[in-house]
Amino acid sequence: MTGRVYLVGTGPGDPELLTVKAQRLLQNSDVVVYDRLVSDEILEQIPPGVSRIYVGKRSGRHPVPQAEINQLLHRLAEAGHVVVRLKGGDPFVFGRGSEEAAWLAAHDIPFEVVPGITSASACSAYAGIPLTHRGLASGVQFVTGHSQADRELDPDWRSLADPDKTLVIYMGLANIARISRELIAAGLPSGTPAAAIEQGTTARQRRLLTTLADLPRMAREARLAPPVLFVIGRVVSLAETLEWFEPQAATAVLPVEREGHG
Ligand SMILES: C[S@@+](CC[C@H](N)C(=O)[O-])C[C@H]1O[C@@H](n2cnc3c(N)ncnc32)[C@H](O)[C@@H]1O
Repeated sequence: MTGRVYLVGTGPGDPELLTVKAQRLLQNSDVVVYDRLVSDEILEQIPPGVSRIYVGKRSGRHPVPQAEINQLLHRLAEAGHVVVRLKGGDPFVFGRGSEEAAWLAAHDIPFEVVPGITSASACSAYAGIPLTHRGLASGVQFVTGHSQADRELDPDWRSLADPDKTLVIYMGLANIARISRELIAAGLPSGTPAAAIEQGTTARQRRLLTTLADLPRMAREARLAPPVLFVIGRVVSLAETLEWFEPQAATAVLPVEREGHG
């Protein structure tokens, strides 16, 4: 008998951003496989009888290789289990959910994908930043700021430097100085409003509001640490007016690094 794997997005931290479907699946699974960007409050929703397997980075060690995670999902499903593979945000947005789904498809393991609220939507909303706004941004681009090992970050800077579109950068902290420099060189005004959101939607959310030119210095001085999302564009100018979220009153906390749970 073959089980089934559900690739489930949790949203970026606040457990109340879990979808009804994600919550139902958590209650009805045999085993949950999760990594670093799943908050403790979301893990608390897993009933005591359900096994948990942590496949994120362990202190001082490398992350579990993707091939090992694929094989684990394969083994669990082959043993007939209902497996929930939990992922921060949305599994199909910079989450390697598609790589896992491709592996499952290639091995005839039944799977379903449950979208989650991606951090671009949730963190910007909790920071008071709309991704589009009439007269300020007619579109939005989601990009990674992370370069592959041994390669330089090399997107089409000119297409990213579009003042009419909001630019959301995932995984960009290590490269933010270069990103800021290249965007300015490609024509985006240095005074373009810019924000950094650390641990968005959680009790430890921090939001920096600045300009494109000052973003690297501000991020350095604030000693930002992952996970951090950058939002660049005219919509950031609304952040103070639209501020509503009080992190101190929130409950969710994102683990920075976690020991294995099992
Ligand atoms: C590997 S990607 C995973 C993205 C995820 N699948 C999503 O849809 O949000 C990790 C990056 O997402 C962003 N991110 C995820 N959760 C976040 C949070 N709570 N606050 C700020 N950024 C977050 C950061 O840019 C982080 O480096």
